[in-house]
Amino acid sequence: MPFNPELCRNESEVESKLIVQYLLPQLGYTPDTWHQEVAVGSIRLDFLAFAAQVLPFVIDANSPLSVVMEAKHPKQNLNNHFLRLRHYLTSLNVKYGLLTNGKEIRIYKKLADDVKLVFSCSGKEVEEKLEEIKDFIGRDSLLKEQVMEVVNESNFPITETFDNKRKNVMKTIAIYHHKGGVGKTTVAINLAAALSKKGKRVLLIDIDAQANSTFATGLVKFQFEEDDDIRDSNVYHLLEKSEFNFIPDIVRQSKFFNNPEIDVIPSHINLVALQSNLVKFGASRSRLARKLEKVKTDYDIVIIDTPPSLDLYAEAALTAADYLIIPSDLKPFSNQGLSSVKNFVKQEINENKEGLGKPPLTILGVLPSKISTNAQYLKYNFSKHKSVITERYHLPLMDSVISERTALSACINKTIPLGNMDIPDPKSILDFATNDPSANVSAAEFESLAIEVLTKMEME
Ligand SMILES: Nc1ncnc2c1ncn2[C@@H]1O[C@H](COP(=O)(O)OP(=O)(O)OP(=O)(O)O)[C@@H](O)[C@H]1O
Ligand SMILES: [Mg+2]
Repeated sequence: MPFNPELCRNESEVESKLIVQYLLPQLGYTPDTWHQEVAVGSIRLDFLAFAAQVLPFVIDANSPLSVVMEAKHPKQNLNNHFLRLRHYLTSLNVKYGLLTNGKEIRIYKKLADDVKLVFSCSGKEVEEKLEEIKDFIGRDSLLKEQVMEVVNESNFPITETFDNKRKNVMKTIAIYHHKGGVGKTTVAINLAAALSKKGKRVLLIDIDAQANSTFATGLVKFQFEEDDDIRDSNVYHLLEKSEFNFIPDIVRQSKFFNNPEIDVIPSHINLVALQSNLVKFGASRSRLARKLEKVKTDYDIVIIDTPPSLDLYAEAALTAADYLIIPSDLKPFSNQGLSSVKNFVKQEINENKEGLGKPPLTILGVLPSKISTNAQYLKYNFSKHKSVITERYHLPLMDSVISERTALSACINKTIPLGNMDIPDPKSILDFATNDPSANVSAAEFESLAIEVLTKMEME
């Protein structure tokens, strides 16, 4: 059957229609020579194809590991995925990598000390270029070439084969507290960045009218209202209608925020004025949850930055979430807000979730945030502050701690001069180049948080 790129509307259709149904059979790979959703050490591959049959499926120093294939959403720019593919090829010692979003197909080859693009064509041209593609990565040519590339150094054990399991594992985390200024946005954007560096496919949703996450991920570089390209396409539009404006229609990629960049659903100040339109219709509270269901194979983790309120936007966010992280500075006013967060979850959110057939929200815990690095504080008061959370409020406490450090606000407020203006150039703390050595400590705190979150969600 000929391949029609128009049929690939999302990442899983690129996987199934282009790779599984078309390319692998055309290139001579029988089902016993390729594997889907494979974790090799800490690396997770979409497809792994071998020139020779490999059953049982074990990668050791002699495996003829030949081609890695990575499928992306049709809206993704392949340039943004090259570095990761290069990492896969070099660290697993694989000779060829195919990268495609359905619209474009690229083949990269690993040379002695570099990875080079050796072939590219559009999705439409795939049939006429098939012979060329076969010359590079067809099973017969690889066998002829006697490509017996071996896995680097010692064994990379196959830790897991996912097969179709991944389709159900997208996890959504709301970062919420109704006390303002406790670090919700700071935690949301930097946790998203840290998870993305761990190879997770991350979607960040900003549902706070202050649009601080939208700003912090580099989507507000314009200086004049007429250049505002967010007003007409943002998170409000997801909630407004059920039959159109889906996540792939609204999503953007963060701009020079983090490597790899992350997908972002932006927010806008006009969410405040528009809320009354939504309140009239109860269904808008669960629309975010329903629309996330439709992209559950496109992302591993969704992080939602929420407003400091108990309004419809907070309700929509928590209803869509599987997990909740409550950042808190552990000060008395913040603590006093915890009871109402608990009641909100118990009375509104879990009832909405039950209506959607979803289990109740899991509270990952209160995350100590903006914690003073003063040695006396840490020695005498911090543990007392922490025990209040568990003993008086009966909430779990996270193990990670996000300390108060100026680098964390400096990285969001970074600018670059352009003519006579300073243009916002925010960075994640993990990619913030600064002379301030404490930035590294802060980045390490977010890496630890990412590991804790993955472990608690049983994703590592
Ligand atoms: N760990 C930290 N160290 C230093 N400054 C921080 C830290 N966390 C947050 N801040 C600063 O505190 C202010 C509030 O933080 P942030 O915007 O993350 O809080 P928020 O809970 O999202 O606020 P809001 O409720 O208004 O949305 C910002 O100026 C931010 O740069
Ligand atoms: Mg915020």
